[in-house]
Amino acid sequence: MALIEDFEERLLLGVPAMDRNHREFVDLINRMSEATDAAFVYLFYEMVQHTHAHFAAEEVLMRETAFQATAEHTAEHQRVLTEMEWFTKHLHRGHVTLARDYVAGELPDWFVQHALTMDSELASHVKRRSQADENRGPFDECAPKRDNSEP
Ligand SMILES: [Fe+2]
Ligand SMILES: [Fe+2]
Repeated sequence: MALIEDFEERLLLGVPAMDRNHREFVDLINRMSEATDAAFVYLFYEMVQHTHAHFAAEEVLMRETAFQATAEHTAEHQRVLTEMEWFTKHLHRGHVTLARDYVAGELPDWFVQHALTMDSELASHVKRRSQADENRGPFDECAPKRDNSEP
């Protein structure tokens, strides 16, 4: 059974780089739910690596577009990475059930909530910024500044 369904209907944000990472994350979560324990461990490590890259890509977008809620959003990413590292340590010791409970019981709700709030806010900001850049036109940045002061 898929843990996160209806990705196309509910969770697409309209920023291709973000949507690609989110689709891959959802795919990993769903595959883990049906994996054997051995495959689950492998997929969990893959998910942690993917999440590092996914969050880093969003943080680059935040910096490049001067996103206002960068500190808050980045802190939430860090909280989740710390949580994932904790479960990774327990997986090293053979505690597969603990990690399975986390993946099945906590990550899906966290992801949907995060995508629909913090990520959605970032996506709207990125789309507004790129629209504004398109409207500005290619030569505006280079145009000489007008001096409107009276002689
Ligand atoms: Fe995200
Ligand atoms: Fe995020």
